[in-house]
Amino acid sequence: MSTNQSLLAVKGLSISFGGLRALNDVHLEIKQGEVVGLIGPNGAGKTTAFNALCGLVTPDAGEFFLDGTSHAWPQTDTLVKLGIARTLQGVGLFSDLTVLENVMIGAQRFSSTGLISAALGRNTKDEAQLKERAIAALEKVYATGIAHRRADTLSYPDTKRVSIARALVCEPKILMLDEPAGGLGAQDIEWMNSLIRNLTATMSVLIVEHHMDVVMSVCDRLYVLNFGEVISSGSAETVRRDPAVIAAYLGTGA
Ligand SMILES: Nc1ncnc2c1ncn2[C@@H]1O[C@H](COP(=O)(O)OP(=O)(O)O)[C@@H](O)[C@H]1O
Ligand SMILES: [Mg+2]
Repeated sequence: MSTNQSLLAVKGLSISFGGLRALNDVHLEIKQGEVVGLIGPNGAGKTTAFNALCGLVTPDAGEFFLDGTSHAWPQTDTLVKLGIARTLQGVGLFSDLTVLENVMIGAQRFSSTGLISAALGRNTKDEAQLKERAIAALEKVYATGIAHRRADTLSYPDTKRVSIARALVCEPKILMLDEPAGGLGAQDIEWMNSLIRNLTATMSVLIVEHHMDVVMSVCDRLYVLNFGEVISSGSAETVRRDPAVIAAYLGTGA
């Protein structure tokens, strides 16, 4: 793969709900090791784009490329095979399981080779491998120290870390995060951002976020959506100064 080759590219993504065009001819690219932000005011189409990339919404049109090779549009059950993992807003942890167990269960999306039964406690080689991978995922979010805590005893910022570990256990090439800073205070946003930066050693990250300030510092590049179209893209500085972006955010009072 040449250095300029995109790891992931989406071209001509369009989605309508009834008469409403939620996304119109959207192009996105993510390069190896990049953190890319998809931002925009309320109703811009961010969640629709995220859901489409997760296979939760089927596009009316759109091409999907990995490493320059065209693939069928991802479905929820092909996502992990394509090397893509995501966290979803509001998808909770199993409260009466430990952190480690929650992360191990994240691997049920990983394959169909018996890892689910392993996660349910059968003493197999699979279980040992699964546990090893779960611990590696917890290390990446600096959470090995809470591996044996019950999920319902965690602070909110810790649940966010564990949710990310649950996605990392799939060993993705691309991690998609829906509002990772949501509900976090300034200090927690700082460690979340540094955690995300550290992930780029082994993967690329796509962040969907409403508030542009919180992702400015963590993203290498941003795409700004408004009314379903990319109205600006580039570095944080570039989009921050773009009159079209300023107008879009002012227009909604966000
Ligand atoms: N399932 C749906 N049915 C109908 N309209 C939808 C649906 N999901 C989103 N929309 C509409 O599509 C547009 C984009 O929504 P969304 O992707 O949620 O924006 P964002 O996440 O940027 O706030 C909005 O006008 C929204 O009302
Ligand atoms: Mg949304």
